[in-house]
Amino acid sequence: MCGIVGYIGTKKACPILIAGLTRLEYRGYDSAGISTIENNGLSIMKDKGRVSNLSSLKGIDDLEGTIGIAHTRWATHGKPSRENSHPHQDNSKSFSVVHNGIIENYSELKNFLEENGYKFYSQTDTEVIPNLIHYYYEKDSGNDVLRFLKAVRNACSDLRGSFAIEVISSHYPENMIVVRKDSPLVIGTCESEKYISSDIPAILSYTRDFYLLDDLEFVLLANNNARFFDNDLNEFDKKTTNIEWNAAAAEKDGYDDFMLKEIFEQPTAIRETIGSHISSDYDCDFDELNFSKTDLENINKIFIIACGTAMHAGLVGKIAFERLCRIPVEVDIASEFRYRNPIIDEHTLCIFISQSGETADTIAALKLAKSSNATTIAITNVVGSSITREADISVYTHAGPEIAVASTKAYTSQVVLIDLLAIYFAKILNRVDSEYLVDVTKDILSLPKKIEETLNCKNQVYDFAKKIYQEKDIFFLGRGIDETVAKEGSLKLKEISYIHSESYAAGELKHGPIALIENGVTVIGIMTDSSLVKKTISNLQEVITRGAKTLIITSQVIDKDMFDVVITIPESSTFTSPILSIIPLQLLAYYISKEKGLDVDKPRNLAKSVTVE
Ligand code: M6R
Repeated sequence: MCGIVGYIGTKKACPILIAGLTRLEYRGYDSAGISTIENNGLSIMKDKGRVSNLSSLKGIDDLEGTIGIAHTRWATHGKPSRENSHPHQDNSKSFSVVHNGIIENYSELKNFLEENGYKFYSQTDTEVIPNLIHYYYEKDSGNDVLRFLKAVRNACSDLRGSFAIEVISSHYPENMIVVRKDSPLVIGTCESEKYISSDIPAILSYTRDFYLLDDLEFVLLANNNARFFDNDLNEFDKKTTNIEWNAAAAEKDGYDDFMLKEIFEQPTAIRETIGSHISSDYDCDFDELNFSKTDLENINKIFIIACGTAMHAGLVGKIAFERLCRIPVEVDIASEFRYRNPIIDEHTLCIFISQSGETADTIAALKLAKSSNATTIAITNVVGSSITREADISVYTHAGPEIAVASTKAYTSQVVLIDLLAIYFAKILNRVDSEYLVDVTKDILSLPKKIEETLNCKNQVYDFAKKIYQEKDIFFLGRGIDETVAKEGSLKLKEISYIHSESYAAGELKHGPIALIENGVTVIGIMTDSSLVKKTISNLQEVITRGAKTLIITSQVIDKDMFDVVITIPESSTFTSPILSIIPLQLLAYYISKEKGLDVDKPRNLAKSVTVE
């Protein structure tokens, strides 16, 4: 939820840290701060507000240090304020720490430290960390760097919860220590420089070689080396991973906002997702999967588990798996799944979807499924993310970095990947006609072109957005697969335009929510399923009669005169129609947010990666 950056090398750290924080701001933007090692000790500069506030603080340009840590905050413990901003220091001001995550036992640790004479100046859980490090440091003797390492390890042994931390010390002006547990942290490496970050895109312009850390691996950094230690402080070697994303993919590239860029990247992203999974004779395969027919016949239930937009992709996956594989599927919100005592055993397959691969609720649900002997598959966009280290098998969407908080290309690539998985399983299970599978596969191959065509609706959507951007309530209706898109369209609108919206199965409206329909309210209808279109039109008729104005997204031939605006999208199968019908809704949310003058990429109260439960 917070963003961490670090630098250790030969250049001035401060500008590199500020640039990294700016790229990471989508992870949290309540406050920002940095600490560097200067000739006269540790500098510390921080304040509430955005990174731009930090970079305009008096004296920040005078920082000369070549080692530094930095943080952009999404407040959990304590309101946004200078005191609660990171970095935090111990009472002697010889250790500076930035932290992402939550220390669950911080009040217990705080009591212990207070009993030992330590004072606290913030309401954060983080402030216990530098003081604990100091406590253990003082208990030891000697001056070699292992004393520093031991103090950090001992402090971490006392922490319960999740953390990614960077520590620098005035006692060790050439080093930095970093460690993570259940919270993301990567180290980019190049000759005589190391870049540390919560997320790969923030440091992609410096290197493509990364150390991807596992939990409780302690890294002792100097500018020309990285030494790795396990929890018992035994040293071990670690290999780097080369990340294929290019740096331009993490820049706006001429677009006003990342979200708009990412919406328009969808044809390319989907081509990358399809990748080599489909052969020239329309056979669908996954090199990373090795299921036999007997393995799949042993599966009697599938759970698809995710949060937010990723969960909406899962709703499409349910339809694909049930129709093509004839296996019952339940879709669960990760934060609910964990606490409802789900029935899972060795015959259960659990598929987890997460763009970031770092969502705490999804990872916790994955751990639960594994402990009940289910087979687990992770669908994610981020190579080496935490989820890939927990799941039995990981498959990648390859959509490229998604920076805007509102997920767009990640959703469509997740839907494509889960469709491909369902086709692959269906081929092995042989429960539906193979020609039908070829048709579905061809339909997936036609997507990039159809997405390009659909994006042409941009001006029509913009005109409609200008008419409705000041509204207070908007309704989204659909049946079958279109209801899943109604949900995603409604979420997109809420998160970036702050307009209240509801999504409903069109037939359910008359069982209650129709009471909310009054003259002039906007209702958005999605109709792509020919077998349901007449029924949905009848439901829309009911709202029109009560004075609603309507925007329709459809691939069907309908009487356009009935509605205020009709956006026609290309026809495609049930499994792929959400990929097209969501596009006008992504654009609508975007243009409404722009008309309202809001920060599209960084909506209030939200962060890109939700690493707290
Ligand atoms: O990284 P994840 O896919 O696990 O994230 C899940 C949700 O937090 C995410 O989809 C969220 O709902 C988006 N902001 C929606 O646009």
